[in-house]
Amino acid sequence: MAERGYADIVLMDIIEGLPQGKALDIAESAPILNFDTHIIGTNSYQETANSDVVIITSGTGRKPGMTRDELLLTNMKIITEVTHNVVNHSPNGIIIMVTNPVDAMTHLAIHTSQFPRNRVFGLSGVLDSTRFSSFIATELNVSVKDVSACVLGQHGRNMVVIPRLSTVSGTPITKLLPQETINRLVARTIGGGEEIVGLLKTGSAFYTPSAAIAQMVDAVILDKKEILPCATYLQGEYGIKDTVISVPVKLGKSGIEQIIELELTPEEKQALATSAKAVQELVKTVKLG
Ligand code: 2OP
Repeated sequence: MAERGYADIVLMDIIEGLPQGKALDIAESAPILNFDTHIIGTNSYQETANSDVVIITSGTGRKPGMTRDELLLTNMKIITEVTHNVVNHSPNGIIIMVTNPVDAMTHLAIHTSQFPRNRVFGLSGVLDSTRFSSFIATELNVSVKDVSACVLGQHGRNMVVIPRLSTVSGTPITKLLPQETINRLVARTIGGGEEIVGLLKTGSAFYTPSAAIAQMVDAVILDKKEILPCATYLQGEYGIKDTVISVPVKLGKSGIEQIIELELTPEEKQALATSAKAVQELVKTVKLG
């Protein structure tokens, strides 16, 4: 984000010295990377006051063998508190949720903030679809630029990968790859986060989530009207109500400016409904209301 040069950045964490150290390290790279962004680190919400966009990554991440859902109870306490602080200091901001399980945490942040749904959404589909795109490009030995991937639903085991709507320069991959190869790439996409956690052992993915968040923030700050899949609170779209899952939305300066309803086959619709159900079960545990 600092390299983009279009916004002041405040890194905020409760650990003393950590955000200050990170911010200083990033700021010192400016003469080489050629940006004039003002970036500071702090332990106080005061310095984040009146942010246009607030990216929430607080909470704990997964250890190998854990699902995102197992983080629910720990992270819900943290996210409730953080969201209250964000609302108090940046009442007009747009919240981008990153903390897992992201669909439930986005729902919790909407509930806690009382912000309209266009101003609270989560990172999921951009991350999941870039993973699928990268696997497709490698498999077919084509440029990633030519690949467009469609991944919807829960950011988790019930992710809905749609090969029929995933294309290479307009041709669906269902016409380019045998079914068993597609199945393998789909399974790898669904387990994409776990694959990285399994390799790193002490942390989860970093580069791709951060690139995905930066793309979402670009769309908002630069008012790009870009269509990106985000964890979005649905109120009847796709036949799903009162649930956050990833669907394509148009992102611009107001946040979510339109929810795009793709035409899905009955099987795909069913998979999305199952995905929504999984998120609803999780949110029930949080007892919103
Ligand atoms: C991922 O999929 C951490 O959920 C994040 O890598």
